[in-house]
Amino acid sequence: MQLLQRKRILLGITGGIAAYKACELCRRLRDLEAEVQVVMTPAATRFITPLTLQALSGRPVRTDLLDPAAEAAMGHIELARWADLIMVAPASADFLARLAAGTADDLLTTACLATDAPIAVAPAMNQAMWRSPATRRNCATLAVDGVLLWGPGSGSQACGDEGPGRMLEPQELLQRIQALLGTPPILAGRSVVITAGPTREPLDPVRYLSNHSSGKQGFALAAAAAEAGAEVTLITGPVELTTPPGVTRVDVTTARDMLAAAESVCSGQVDIFIAVAAVADFRPASAAEQKIKKAAGQQGLELSLVENPDIVATIARRQPRPFMVAFAAETENLEANARSKLERKQVDLVVANDVSRSDIGFGSDDNVVTLVSREGSETLPSMPKTALARLLMERIGRHAKATEMPATKRHAKP
Ligand code: C5P
Repeated sequence: MQLLQRKRILLGITGGIAAYKACELCRRLRDLEAEVQVVMTPAATRFITPLTLQALSGRPVRTDLLDPAAEAAMGHIELARWADLIMVAPASADFLARLAAGTADDLLTTACLATDAPIAVAPAMNQAMWRSPATRRNCATLAVDGVLLWGPGSGSQACGDEGPGRMLEPQELLQRIQALLGTPPILAGRSVVITAGPTREPLDPVRYLSNHSSGKQGFALAAAAAEAGAEVTLITGPVELTTPPGVTRVDVTTARDMLAAAESVCSGQVDIFIAVAAVADFRPASAAEQKIKKAAGQQGLELSLVENPDIVATIARRQPRPFMVAFAAETENLEANARSKLERKQVDLVVANDVSRSDIGFGSDDNVVTLVSREGSETLPSMPKTALARLLMERIGRHAKATEMPATKRHAKP
């Protein structure tokens, strides 16, 4: 999802039945974190109320060019300078005519005349009015003036006619606004590999050693990475979770399978590797071929375990290597332990979690983490895990960008 954070949109609404769709557009713009200032023509206020738009935009709606109180807050020229985009939806035939003529007889046309920001209009009118030579002439003039004409669409009209003149749907206008103003997502063009979930280490054909990892953290990060524009491969142990949209999933069982999958993916171009999996540190030295039977009178069973490969440390030794992120669940000395993990595994960033606190972490909806890198540390505020995943991906993207250097230099680490 491409956000419109800190983008200022002056939403102009003119008189037409499609004005009700401007409510939806206003809401969606706010969902994408845009700032929206609504300006309505007097005719627009006959179709929908300024109060509705005030509630949706979170700001008083402007309707009058000559309102001293409103002008004292933000004058019409200030308003025109404030906007990053003037979006007029719906744009009536009358408004297009006045804009083409350069009149400044209401607040909206005045703002359009006074702005340096791009102006986009979404025409909405009866098909005969759209086809009329005067409207054709006005649209041609507006196109030459650099006004963006978005639509109209064609189809059945409120007046009962069929043909061109339907305002584009809010979703389509939103996409065009995002394409025009949206900041490219932080991980656009990056490839990210994430390990998640537990591993299972077989003892015999029916038994295994494993742990309680749910995989939720890794899956939330994969979703956030895809949302941030990355191409994501999620290597996961056995979990009961659905694959986030746009993510390529590789299912594995054992730690050695997980390592093989990670090495295979990392033989191609990988920019960021994030190890979230709760990998079993040890596995049975050998898995019995047949089910282990309890002998009569047997008191106990000795298991011989051998160490599993450390996946994140193994990938960190590759040349060239991705930007490496490991997770650390600690019960004491959070930062010192995370820092020693940073060195031991030769990773670039450790996301450390204090699992001794019962109000956060395991089983709770909220989490607090500290990011530890060679440059310093940062504790992120307590927040829901999905929001944290987004913030973490933003931070990981920033750290990865900051350490970006010619491949030969980056991989010359001991
Ligand atoms: O060594 P420890 O288990 O405390 O480190 C945790 C971090 O190392 C996690 O990022 C985990 O995914 C990763 N790890 C790994 N392979 C292992 C053990 C841990 O990738 N065998």
